[in-house]
Amino acid sequence: MHLIDKIDKNNIPNHVAIIMDGNGRWAKQKGLERSEGHRKGVDSVRSVVEAAVKANVKWLTIYAFSTENWLRPCEEVNAIMELMVLAVANETPELIKNGVRLKFIGDIDRLPAATRESVYNSTEKTKNGANLNLVVAISYSSRWELTKVVNTIVSDVKNTLLTEEEITEELIEKYIEKISVPEVDLLIRTGGDIRISNFLLWQAAYAELYFTNVFWPDFGEQQFFEAIIDYQQKERRFGKTSEQIELESI
Ligand code: IPE
Ligand code: IPE
Ligand code: MG
Repeated sequence: MHLIDKIDKNNIPNHVAIIMDGNGRWAKQKGLERSEGHRKGVDSVRSVVEAAVKANVKWLTIYAFSTENWLRPCEEVNAIMELMVLAVANETPELIKNGVRLKFIGDIDRLPAATRESVYNSTEKTKNGANLNLVVAISYSSRWELTKVVNTIVSDVKNTLLTEEEITEELIEKYIEKISVPEVDLLIRTGGDIRISNFLLWQAAYAELYFTNVFWPDFGEQQFFEAIIDYQQKERRFGKTSEQIELESI
């Protein structure tokens, strides 16, 4: 029996988000440069995207580069930015074939021109993809994103497009969705650390969390399916009691 057959097709997480961590340690363990870890990490992205399409996941958001990652040594930042251009160009034809729509979230203006170009090109080329929304968080942090949303709301109030009374949780949600992603159902972090690192703080408020010691370059289809199977064992109560949830499912 294949692992995919153990997945309940009626309980697929709508949105899986992944903190792809451990590239550097994977490389170090093998006596390689950190950039080799990032390169190998692209193969994992390919496998996981294909697995997500097979499992019928509708949203997959991957954390590729954080606002805080700008603090890394210049050579590493440059290597990641160049890799991004190459990876996006190489993968786009296959993404189109698989019906994957690419989207990027984060401070795109801060990226080098070549990376920005490839971001815009691939977004345009894949815009008709209907199977999976693949969202790459790059130069991204949740605090950056929420600050941007607050600024937009304030400016809309100033310009009388919005009144103060209209600012509700639902409205904030709408503003976030405009520039970002919907609510996360399953949040995976590889690499062994148990933290969120400024990723989707609002959207993951009720996500199921899955942490694994596997380094990102060693993560693939099998590990992705294992995470989904683990997710399917959880009872999502959203504040209610177990008895209420059972009654609702009858
Ligand atoms: C994740 O791997 C990729 C990025 C943050 C760009 P790391 O580069 O953080 O790898 P470790 O955590 O040092 O092993
Ligand atoms: C989180 O990994 C960011 C990405 C995976 C892009 P980091 O390796 O940067 O996280 P911290 O700094 O160890 O929390
Ligand atoms: Mg790391």
